[in-house]
Amino acid sequence: MSTQTSSSKRRLLLASDNCDKSRELEKILQSVGEVETVSTSELPESPADFSGVVVDINLRSAESVQRVRNKLRQEGYRAMPRLFVLADALHHGSMQAWALGATDTISRPFDAAGILQRIRAAFPDSQGFDASDRGKLLNRGVAAAHEVMVKIFNKLPAGEPLKFSDIVAAENKILKAIKHSSLREWLTAIGCHHTDSYRHCLYVTGFAVAFAQHLGMHEDDQRRLTRAALLHDVGKAFIPVAILDKPGALTEQEITVIRRHPRLGYEALAAQGSFPPEMLDVVLHHHEFLDGTGYPNGLQGDRISDIVRLTTIVDVYSALVEQRPHRLPFTHAKAFAMMEQMKGKFDQHLLQAFRPVTLGAY
Ligand SMILES: [Fe+2]
Ligand SMILES: [Fe+2]
Repeated sequence: MSTQTSSSKRRLLLASDNCDKSRELEKILQSVGEVETVSTSELPESPADFSGVVVDINLRSAESVQRVRNKLRQEGYRAMPRLFVLADALHHGSMQAWALGATDTISRPFDAAGILQRIRAAFPDSQGFDASDRGKLLNRGVAAAHEVMVKIFNKLPAGEPLKFSDIVAAENKILKAIKHSSLREWLTAIGCHHTDSYRHCLYVTGFAVAFAQHLGMHEDDQRRLTRAALLHDVGKAFIPVAILDKPGALTEQEITVIRRHPRLGYEALAAQGSFPPEMLDVVLHHHEFLDGTGYPNGLQGDRISDIVRLTTIVDVYSALVEQRPHRLPFTHAKAFAMMEQMKGKFDQHLLQAFRPVTLGAY
């Protein structure tokens, strides 16, 4: 098919199952890089010289999806950013795109300026961030997240107010830090934190942000998930540290005390007055399971909202891969396999979509 060159060093692979239909997109993409348009059956084995792949296929066609899935699973495509084109602005096909590992999505009708901006952000060219910029952004993100932890765990129980705006103020820095470094670097930076509860919340935040960015969530949704992760265990601020950090198995009575944290957190945030219902929902329900075996309310299926389902997955996963006083961390592969075996508890579609994020954490 066709290859067009522009002055940029960025090379993009455009996978299409209808090249006539993709022509408009091809033209738009040519203003940010060299574009090679290929049919889904002609995707190269080794895409090494491309900085990313744009997938413009009918996401409702099992045949097209299968062809692209088989190719994108191959080693050479694994770390490559993938931009998926959705049929319309109603996000039809977005679940399929996420399941195929989309890093971002765009939709018809095309907004050329918006697309170019997202291409520049998603697909690096030779003028990317250098290591010291990335290091600075990472440090700023970690510091902002740490400040939120101090407010939650030290100031809130001492009677100082926690405002929704305190959380919002940290979001930008955290999102930027993880976007421009990597989940692995984030986890390394916070892994040495000596307070278990801080470290856990910062792990959950790292996985949540990486998951949101991996799914190609829109900016607003990335922010909602960042907030949810930062806040989810706010109730632990009211549980004695001797129980939280106990270096051995907990007694039944201690388990009962720990299990109060969702409700204590909910009550504390509700009393602050400025937190939206969605955040209260996450704080109260992040230990509920789809099969009704969770706590505090034993909620089932549809009664558990999407943002809670997502938070639950990253929360349980983080807890498994963290170092705890009474056990060594599980490996990423083992932790994921354990969650797959907890049948009926998690949203399976979301859990499977989370797998590539866990691979990025090694
Ligand atoms: Fe919790
Ligand atoms: Fe947690």
